[in-house]
Amino acid sequence: MPESTAKKIATLRQQIQTHNYNYYTLDTPTITDAEYDRQIRSLRTLEDKYPQYASSESPSQSVGGPVLDSFNKVPHEMAMLSLGNVYSEEELNEFIERIHKRLKNTQELIFCVEPKLDGLAISLLYEQGQLIRAATRGDGSVGEDVTYNVKTIKNIPHTLQGDNIPQRLEVRGEVVMPIADFHAFNQQALANDTKGFVNPRNAAAGSLRQLDSNITAQRPLAFYSYGIGIIEQGSLADSHYQRLQQLKQWGLPITHEITQETDAKGCITAYQQLLANRPKLEYEIDGIVYKVDDIALQEQLGFVARAPRWATAHKFPAQEEQTQLLDVEFQVGRTGAITPVAILEPVFVGGVTVSRASLHNADEIQRLELKIGNTVIIRRAADVIPQIVKALPGSQALKEIIFPVSCPVCDSEIERIEGEAIARCTGGLYCAAQRKEAIKYFASRKAMNIDGLGVKVVEQLVDEHLINNPADLFTLNTEQLVPLERMAAKKAENLINAIDQCKQTTLAKFILALGIREVGDATAKNLAEHFLTLDAIQNADIEALEQVDDVGEIVAKHVVTFFRQVHNQEVIQALIATGIYWPEIQAKESHELPLAGKTYVLTGTLTKMDRNEAKLALQALGAKVSGSVSKKTDYVVAGESAGSKLTKAQDLEISVLSEDQLLNILNRDF
Ligand code: IVH
Repeated sequence: MPESTAKKIATLRQQIQTHNYNYYTLDTPTITDAEYDRQIRSLRTLEDKYPQYASSESPSQSVGGPVLDSFNKVPHEMAMLSLGNVYSEEELNEFIERIHKRLKNTQELIFCVEPKLDGLAISLLYEQGQLIRAATRGDGSVGEDVTYNVKTIKNIPHTLQGDNIPQRLEVRGEVVMPIADFHAFNQQALANDTKGFVNPRNAAAGSLRQLDSNITAQRPLAFYSYGIGIIEQGSLADSHYQRLQQLKQWGLPITHEITQETDAKGCITAYQQLLANRPKLEYEIDGIVYKVDDIALQEQLGFVARAPRWATAHKFPAQEEQTQLLDVEFQVGRTGAITPVAILEPVFVGGVTVSRASLHNADEIQRLELKIGNTVIIRRAADVIPQIVKALPGSQALKEIIFPVSCPVCDSEIERIEGEAIARCTGGLYCAAQRKEAIKYFASRKAMNIDGLGVKVVEQLVDEHLINNPADLFTLNTEQLVPLERMAAKKAENLINAIDQCKQTTLAKFILALGIREVGDATAKNLAEHFLTLDAIQNADIEALEQVDDVGEIVAKHVVTFFRQVHNQEVIQALIATGIYWPEIQAKESHELPLAGKTYVLTGTLTKMDRNEAKLALQALGAKVSGSVSKKTDYVVAGESAGSKLTKAQDLEISVLSEDQLLNILNRDF
């Protein structure tokens, strides 16, 4: 073995430790992530090749250790205590009052004020600056040995840096999963169809208590110090705040929001500031902790039961509570989107009483496996709409939640296009929930272009029950309009004239004005030019619609479903009855085109052009291109791996063309 290997390993370890310190403690990395990964890889390669140099202290070990049968018990030399709580400024004053009483004076008190992290308490034991053991809090007296797992947490140094490090030092703090990492982890779990975590705290606890530390190594955990347990052979500052700063200098992370405050006033201001900043923090917190900063005073005050007299937590309003799911209502949005809404037994959460929560869509109900009657966990983070996090397993289930097939407002069909999460009402022209949007769209510039019928006027007309659908516009008179806000006689007269004038339109604009999903001005124009009459469009089936430029299966389905709704038909009849008219459209001289009257079906994979290009090219020559093979088909163009359509063509003895033959036709000099 070359003599320099030991030195190489030592240098690499030292370098990596410095980079860890720069990255995690100083927040100023001096190398790229890629270079860092290369150094870790080199170190691992050397350690694998020369196992005599392997060391549990090596920074390469932050990938995990052996799989354990169970965790060893660790008695805490100094008990790990919990904190008392105050819930108001008044209670904080009482807490401070008690301290003054006990100290027998009323001197001004300095507090070290820290965020209360919502994670898992942990004790880290360093001997001669080396991390030798990590333990959970357990019952406060005895915890569990999670050293292998803790060593995988990237911002925990295995070796402390700097001077005056006590021979034995126990650092206490919280292990958390940062909020962004928690969401990313859950997103990935959803994609992999594995179970995610309910909240960042459970994620941290679940990840740390793994018997296989290789699993922990893959979890994005982080640690923040908030205190010190044992100190042997070494001394530290006599201020808690200064001690935390010292830990930071040795390479141990602390939270960014630690301050020193004087008396209750300073504490309450810090509480309000932290509460306001809560949504911006990278970790989840559930309150603030006030600690008497002077260590000598802390010692004088001591403990009562299992909590110190010198510290207390001031909790923020809880962001999660549990309650009962009483029912699910289905709301229809302005554009017809159907949203399930959970009706809840009212519960106080995140500072407000919540009695409803959006369930987003049918997939969400399925994902949560919700049933009416379930006990559910509601989460309302600051400024975020309440969410149902999960149903408690085994809670009572009274009824299945059934997604409606017809609109709860207008009874039209509900349509859900494959692959889309949102289901929608198809009664766009009639549905009361969509009324305002439908009329605004009908009147808009690119549709019927009714001058003076802006958004505000439509809203007033609907709110005053003067109109319910676009056809009602044509029944209005000036006397009805004048009482409306900011509507003088002249303006009312102009509007009535504009409504009357819009009756002369084009078929394309009329089709557009109906507001059929995904039928914009280009598609409306293509439909009009292809079918020539409103009747023909209304009677077209999906196959016929697919013949139109730019109309695929989805748009075709939207058109068919829209015209199938009885209520939409009623409004269309009423519109026509008002006298709306358009000039007749002359059929294009399609019989003069070379492929006029021929129907083609394209199937299989085309290699020299895509299917849509081929379709457009054939249509430009006058051919019809259909999606399915029938007796009416003249030619089937079979690309690679053509399947059932080719078989059907053969059965029906229809001419089958290759891609090259198609290209010959398209390139022919007609
Ligand atoms: S000090 C003797 N400081 O809160 C003092 N605890 O309810 C003991 N916690 O188990 C704790 N952030 O897990 C302290 N800045 C902070 C904290 C904090 C979170 C947790 C800790 C403890 C629990 C006590």
